[in-house]
Amino acid sequence: MAFDQSKWVWMNGKLIPWDSANVHVSAHALHYGSGVFEGIRCYETEKGPAVFRLDLHLARFETSAAAHAMEIPYSIEELTAGICDLITANEFRACYIRPICFYGSGSLNVDPSKCPIEVAMLAWPWASYLSAEGKEAGIRVTVSPWIKFQSKMMPSTAKASGQYINSILAVHDAVLRGFDEAILLDNQGNLAEGSAENIFLVHDGRIRTNDLRHSILLGVTRDSIINIARDLGYSVEIAALNLEDLLSADEAFLVGTAAEVTPVREVDNIKIGAGGRGPITTKIQQTFFAATAGNESKYTDWLHYVR
Ligand SMILES: Cc1ncc(COP(=O)(O)O)c(C=O)c1O
Repeated sequence: MAFDQSKWVWMNGKLIPWDSANVHVSAHALHYGSGVFEGIRCYETEKGPAVFRLDLHLARFETSAAAHAMEIPYSIEELTAGICDLITANEFRACYIRPICFYGSGSLNVDPSKCPIEVAMLAWPWASYLSAEGKEAGIRVTVSPWIKFQSKMMPSTAKASGQYINSILAVHDAVLRGFDEAILLDNQGNLAEGSAENIFLVHDGRIRTNDLRHSILLGVTRDSIINIARDLGYSVEIAALNLEDLLSADEAFLVGTAAEVTPVREVDNIKIGAGGRGPITTKIQQTFFAATAGNESKYTDWLHYVR
């Protein structure tokens, strides 16, 4: 259990021991999912631990909160300092970071306005989300019977806790049926995204991904991959994608902070391209990991060094 290595949690402005970082069972967020959160990675580099695209993640944390009329009671500077203190106190060289802002205990009216706003940040080592082998050999996904919630039901570009029930249904069903991950379609039958990743396809050397018109979370990794792909000289088309596009792709890959860049080798037992990690996915994955390790000068601005 990776949590075993975490000794400290940042909670409401202070570092406290992991075992003391508790919330009462009457907390509003426990009952209704009334919180917003982030998932961020810190990578090991020659200059010590460095947090990948921290500014974009914290900006999204604020806009997610604003979309739910919450105000995070800490500035970006305070959160940045808190994350660096948390990594240093835990003595992590690389880790995953999970800030969360949520309604605590006060009332269980659905209206949360009588509940205090609490903020916590956790960190733990989380090497691979969709398996280390999957990053090389590719993963097997299924198209979920659950569709992605439509962004007019709740803002899909905000990263709110309660909306993950939709992802949980999809990924749990996929795993029970023997797949590694679920792809959700949107309410029009176009591709939306994975349960916790955005999707990219490769057709005849061209890279394609969709956008917020398909009820996706606009991923920080998605943005990084679009930049990397264009810098490598590939054309990146942002357009609606359907199931046929996925099944006829030469390559497909999922991207996200937890999943990083993970090739898809099969969809519902149908091989995608040659059924492994394709050459363009490999090139993009290599450049992405060079960037996260601080070995790609073009992207050093993407790293926030902890010390
Ligand atoms: C539903 C969903 N889509 C996409 C992503 C990828 O976003 P990011 O690259 O910012 O981690 C995530 C990440 O957790 C997600 O939960």
